[in-house]
Amino acid sequence: MPGSEMRDEVAVLYTEAEIARRVAELGDEVCRALAGRELCVLGLMKGSLVFMADLVRRIPLELTLDLVRVTSHREQTASRVMTEIVYATAVPLEGRDVLLVDDIVDTGITLSYLLGHIHEHSPRSLHVCALVDKPQARKVDVHPDWSAFTIEEPEADRFLVGYGLDWMERFRALPYIGTIPRRDTR
Ligand code: IMP
Ligand code: MG
Repeated sequence: MPGSEMRDEVAVLYTEAEIARRVAELGDEVCRALAGRELCVLGLMKGSLVFMADLVRRIPLELTLDLVRVTSHREQTASRVMTEIVYATAVPLEGRDVLLVDDIVDTGITLSYLLGHIHEHSPRSLHVCALVDKPQARKVDVHPDWSAFTIEEPEADRFLVGYGLDWMERFRALPYIGTIPRRDTR
């Protein structure tokens, strides 16, 4: 069967059912916190696409959907990690209640950079909903308002794929979240 080989490499961490349950809970929490607001949902391409599609269907508020593209290039040497980030959005954010939907908050470098940029556009409020939080890997002090899953030690070093998450553009379409052995890139 095509694709079965790919799935053999992946150990399931969160099943479709577990993800669906957490996404529904998050939808309820977002809805309670932002009731009465009209949301500007900004999804971070491409890792949050699948998560965003499921999450917004659990948020029965008025909302608009947009995508932000952030490309980060990592160069890891023994002593430092260099991240170069390219960011693009033409979405008017001034005065809006922005909900940023992110895939993984790892070092936090990408998210803190983005938050800085979005703040410059003077939104009325800015909240972050992440699929996965890896607080152990944090290099910048930034916290999502909500996260579906938090990965603590000793799992923190495992590389996650599926449900939108990729390794070198692979595995995004898996319906569950799994792990693959840590490779030399993130
Ligand atoms: P940060 O700037 O270190 O927080 O990087 C976050 C980004 O790194 C995420 O948006 C992902 O694209 C990527 N990333 C970090 N950890 C993983 C992982 O375990 N699987 C897939 N992508 C990851
Ligand atoms: Mg990625």
